[in-house]
Amino acid sequence: MNYPNGLLFPNELQKKIKEQFCFVDVDPDYGERLFFDNSGGSLRLKKCVEAKAYYEQFPDCPERIHERSVGLRKLVDDETREILEIVFGAKSGALITELTASQTMFHMVGLIVENIPGTNAVVSAIEHPSAFDAIEFYCKKAGKEMRVVPANKKTGGIDPDEVVRYVDENTCLLSIMSASNISGNIMNIGEIVNRARAIKPELYIISDAVQHAPHCIMNVEKLKIDGINFAPYKFFGVRGCGFAYVSDRVAALPHHKLIAKDQKVFELGTCTPGNFAAMREIIDYVCEIGRYFIDDASRKELYNKGMEAIHLHERALLYHMLEGTNDIPGLRHIDGVTVYVDTKDITSRDLIAAIGIDGMNFTETVAEYQRHGVTVYERVNTSIYSKRIVEALGLSGAIRVSPLHCHDTDDIDKFLKITADIAKSNKE
Ligand SMILES: Cc1ncc(COP(=O)(O)O)c(C=O)c1O
Repeated sequence: MNYPNGLLFPNELQKKIKEQFCFVDVDPDYGERLFFDNSGGSLRLKKCVEAKAYYEQFPDCPERIHERSVGLRKLVDDETREILEIVFGAKSGALITELTASQTMFHMVGLIVENIPGTNAVVSAIEHPSAFDAIEFYCKKAGKEMRVVPANKKTGGIDPDEVVRYVDENTCLLSIMSASNISGNIMNIGEIVNRARAIKPELYIISDAVQHAPHCIMNVEKLKIDGINFAPYKFFGVRGCGFAYVSDRVAALPHHKLIAKDQKVFELGTCTPGNFAAMREIIDYVCEIGRYFIDDASRKELYNKGMEAIHLHERALLYHMLEGTNDIPGLRHIDGVTVYVDTKDITSRDLIAAIGIDGMNFTETVAEYQRHGVTVYERVNTSIYSKRIVEALGLSGAIRVSPLHCHDTDDIDKFLKITADIAKSNKE
């Protein structure tokens, strides 16, 4: 991982990758476009969509004895294991499945705040509402104090030094996101966990990884956390499900379940095999990228290698987008463009740039990009969803630019030229 400015995929691999996604360069109804809003919902793997559709065709109940039913049950059980062991890097614990990642977050927060003794819970100021509002809701319900850790306005992240000022021996839960979905800053969860547990060794700690999971390896064993979640629709997959890992001690808390089921089973009602089939395709896909670099390895090793390659390629795209080339200036060098919460060192960043164009309001800028065939989105303080977050970063808003690893440097160059044109014509 020692590439401070990232490492692009070899050309041959890059081409193969792009072909596997739906509608990367063209919307079938609206024509050519650059989809740079992957933090709002990522480009999808064709195989995920096909696998989900395929398994939706079977009416068989996964609880029956018939061959198809047994096959569907096996698919769900196998993929539950793979999500835990391969995607989350867990050796124990349990899987929470819900319709959305937000629901898994409310689920985890509720279990801990309502059952674990303590008079306060701690969360960061830049959390997505799913984590922030869950803490507020359950703290109110349980009569506990909610403490909010401010952001570092220079980096767009949360500093471990700041977190430990809010944690004490009466804290029942600490919840810090793995990476910001506005600035792209990756939090040092490992250090946050160690420092917070130095204050309270048995502290429950969870993390929202919806932004970070599609871009980097997750390893709950290494991080020693109690809960973490992701949303397949932001992870090259499908809508309609959210997944979370919870530690054994969280799974042991009293939770909704059928009485006859094991304590570690959170599944309630009939499962959706198509969602698990789509997850299998995501894991297969990342393993295939890994196989390009290493042979003869376990599925977990292949997955980790694939994720590492994705992470480095995305870092190289971020560097390219910020710095540009001799011929095409990067975002940092285009007259009239500001990159917010920009850090020189990009090793702690996901592939996101938060930008503004002088003299243009954010909504107008998004529309202008749309006219040029580029999909990006604004996060502004007039929206109830992003007000708290952008203001915590010292901003009134930002255009969020979030390409994906299936993009290449030509896509980034196209975007840079369009950005320069928009900034220039706005000045004239
Ligand atoms: C960082 C982060 N957390 C949580 C969520 C919520 O995901 P979902 O809409 O699947 O509940 C989002 C979605 O935008 C997000 O970006």
